Amino acid sequence: MEKYSVAMIGLGVMGANLLLNLERNGFSGVGFDINADSVTKFLEGPGKGKKVTGASSWSEVAEKLEKPRKVFILVPAGKPVDSVLGELSAVLEKGDVIVECGNSHYPDTERREAELSAKGFNFTGMGISGGEEGALWGPSMMPGGPREGYDRLAPSLEKIAAQVEDGPCVTYLGPGGAGHYTKMVHNGIEYGDMQLIAEAYDLLKRLGGLSNEELADVFGEWNQGELESFLIEITARIFQQKDEDGGYVVDKIMDTAAMKGTGTWTVQDAYGMAVPIPTIAAAVDARVISAMRGQRLAAAKSIPADVQPKPAADKKAWIDAVRAALYCAKTCSYAQGYAMLRTASEQHDWNLPFGEIARIWKGGCIIRARFLGSIQEAYRRDADLPNLLLDPFFKDELAGRMSAWRQVVVEGVKSGVPLPAMGGSLAYYDAYRTERLPANLVQAQRDLFGAHTYERLDREGSFHTHWN
Ligand code: 6PG
Repeated sequence: MEKYSVAMIGLGVMGANLLLNLERNGFSGVGFDINADSVTKFLEGPGKGKKVTGASSWSEVAEKLEKPRKVFILVPAGKPVDSVLGELSAVLEKGDVIVECGNSHYPDTERREAELSAKGFNFTGMGISGGEEGALWGPSMMPGGPREGYDRLAPSLEKIAAQVEDGPCVTYLGPGGAGHYTKMVHNGIEYGDMQLIAEAYDLLKRLGGLSNEELADVFGEWNQGELESFLIEITARIFQQKDEDGGYVVDKIMDTAAMKGTGTWTVQDAYGMAVPIPTIAAAVDARVISAMRGQRLAAAKSIPADVQPKPAADKKAWIDAVRAALYCAKTCSYAQGYAMLRTASEQHDWNLPFGEIARIWKGGCIIRARFLGSIQEAYRRDADLPNLLLDPFFKDELAGRMSAWRQVVVEGVKSGVPLPAMGGSLAYYDAYRTERLPANLVQAQRDLFGAHTYERLDREGSFHTHWN
């Protein structure tokens, strides 16, 4: 029987595209799906004429593979993954490699890795970013698990990944759930970026008076400079898209943002470790508030506006100020995401390669951006950087834009334009660099009502006052 290099379990769009990517790069494949129709459709459709075959049972998947077997799984996160793993462990052998590529929650990945390694399998939990196009033409991939499993997968992963000037957008991230953790933080950062861009849009439209054509031009121009990124590029494209009736699609889309949960996981995990990520948290909150449309519509009628948007006097200067504010706020958002990665890496003993993470995010993924090259440089200068805001390059970049950033947030506040992420970033920046915060008062209050004690600046130890 002819043997194939890899198997793909789950032939939805992502799985099918990743299998086609593997095949195009010289890795013949077996496609399998619990829905037999999906296998037929794949083989008669995009798989036609390619070095791919189907399987009609789990044992056939195993029989058709070269040993040690390499099996990719791309099914919805949660129970479907556990059920596939149960089936596979019955037909695979010790030493076989299983790579699970969904948006799985990293504690699940850690559990699965422990269970499967006890049975002698090499289990890799790998986050993939880049959507359907990325899966087909080159995604960014974030694998974690045993090193041996990665080494077996590396030849195929390095070929199918997006390529940037300094290599393929994949690297070994660490044991256990390191890969899915990194993907989770990637998604938190993705939420932050999207919310910041949305706030910039609101400021340009409501206070700058920009039309959709002008917005397309502005985002197109921003994409030529320091903000160059996939999300800025698609934003420019979105403002150009018209409907059959000639109107702009963007104006017809309901203002309720959905989400599948990875942003919420990011915030929950950050709180669990006591790492502040206000910009990313604001992005999650903003989606939740947007989804409370019924309440918002009623409140808009019952709570009269106390201010009206105040149009900017100088449109060009306003656009430049918003651009500066977006850059600063974005930097703070990445500083928060990286601070999270750093703390998690220490707590889980993952030894995450921060500079390499910036490098593999430079291509293929949703947050790919020129800016990530500067983060890579920052970690090249200092691999132990406690916070990106302390890097000399970013310090200078922000210093030159501070007055514009403050002005943008002030104008937003004066006009009643909500800026949870831009404002959250600014508060993070100010708090992070403030020598004396008002937390002394919070400590005094805690001690007064609950005898929780406090530390002093002038003496060592733990103190309690009998407050009058
Ligand atoms: C990616 C994305 C992707 C994610 C979508 C939708 O990196 O390709 O992060 O994995 O599923 O962006 O996420 P939400 O539905 O939560 O917005």
